Amino acid sequence: MIRIALAGYGTVGQGVMDLFHKRKEAIEQRLGKQVDLPYVLVRDTSKPRDIDLQGAILTSDVRRILDDETVQIVMEATGDIDLGYRLMKEALEKKKHVITANKSVLSLHFEELSEKAREHGVYLLYEASVGGGTPLIKPLQDLSLHGEIRSLRGLLSGSCNYVLTKLREESISYEEVVEEATELGFLEADPIDDVGGFDTRRKLRILATLAFQGKTEEADISLEGITELKQEDISRLGERGYAVRLLAQAKREGQRVQASVHPVALPKASFLGAMDGAENGVEFFGENFIKVSFQGSGAGRYPTAHAMLSDLEDALFELRRKDLVAKKEPLHHEPFNEETRFYIRSAEPLTLPVEEKWGENIWLTAPIEYLQVKSMLPPGAVAIPIEK
Ligand SMILES: NC(=O)c1ccc[n+]([C@@H]2O[C@H](COP(=O)([O-])OP(=O)(O)OC[C@H]3O[C@@H](n4cnc5c(N)ncnc54)[C@H](OP(=O)(O)O)[C@@H]3O)[C@@H](O)[C@H]2O)c1
Repeated sequence: MIRIALAGYGTVGQGVMDLFHKRKEAIEQRLGKQVDLPYVLVRDTSKPRDIDLQGAILTSDVRRILDDETVQIVMEATGDIDLGYRLMKEALEKKKHVITANKSVLSLHFEELSEKAREHGVYLLYEASVGGGTPLIKPLQDLSLHGEIRSLRGLLSGSCNYVLTKLREESISYEEVVEEATELGFLEADPIDDVGGFDTRRKLRILATLAFQGKTEEADISLEGITELKQEDISRLGERGYAVRLLAQAKREGQRVQASVHPVALPKASFLGAMDGAENGVEFFGENFIKVSFQGSGAGRYPTAHAMLSDLEDALFELRRKDLVAKKEPLHHEPFNEETRFYIRSAEPLTLPVEEKWGENIWLTAPIEYLQVKSMLPPGAVAIPIEK
């Protein structure tokens, strides 16, 4: 019998329970052993839940999981930074496999937790932490085994993409779209984690560290969210064939890495430019392959739970290598500084080289470096790089 504990019984945790019971019989047949999920950790055991616990005990005592030697696998979907870290660290030290959706904890403690898993010979698996239901971690680990990954870029916030798509398609203000997205559950009550780009930066931190086999931390990634954008910026660029996206990108040349999260105007016909709505998409560029692309659901109960279940089955059947861990080797990080044309909205006169005036207070610059634009931008102005 293999016993599994689930931490968190919210959106994702309940999806995990539901899918686990749908898959249980098939897993047991293939494995030749019984699998059971006896404990579920929550904060408040009296809260009503949508999905039946199927006999599992609801507890708010983390020791119940950690001190039970018969629990061999911990599935963590709490989102709590402190509890999540303590739980995962101790579980790994006690030789329990850990499967998590918690990108906040991973981003903060990625190398340490990876090292703990390696040291104790157990799995730390986290497919659900980036891209929800879109498989990115497993393919990336596989791709990086057989030659260098040179760069990656993607849309890692379905909620930001939803807001930007709505702004292009409808004549409503940024504030109205954010309100609507919050009501529909695409954004949290306090949306700054998403629209400020912080959530996307955590995911890029994880992907870039895996892709380049060395440490890229949040502080190494320059960040600009979508909060300063207005409907007029999006629609004007839309009229000229561009879709504005919150683009996460990282590239490596030798030991040098540039990584950033910021709004970029992409041709509407391109892979990421054409990706409307709440989807996620990522492109990887490698030494031995030109490009591979992934697109799918970035979040949601069942897509995310599915990713955790697929990690669970990989752990049960020992399908993954245990040495594919986040490496600590330092890389040299430089500020993002690509040269491109910029869309500028500014009430003040510009001192930047202008190629074309697009309207009242709107300009297209000549090709110019990102850092130069940022340093010469008048206060209150908005600059969006345009990709060909
Ligand atoms: N939602 C998505 O679509 C999605 C997608 C990808 C990744 N994720 C990640 O998945 C994780 C869970 O997200 P979620 O949306 O399922 O969150 P959620 O709906 O807020 O559920 C969190 C669950 O964890 C429990 N919990 C929180 N802090 C706890 C603590 N200190 N001790 C014990 N239990 C605690 C809560 O207990 P109570 O129910 O008693 O409050 C709740 O059951 C997060 O790391 C998130 O970033 C979510």
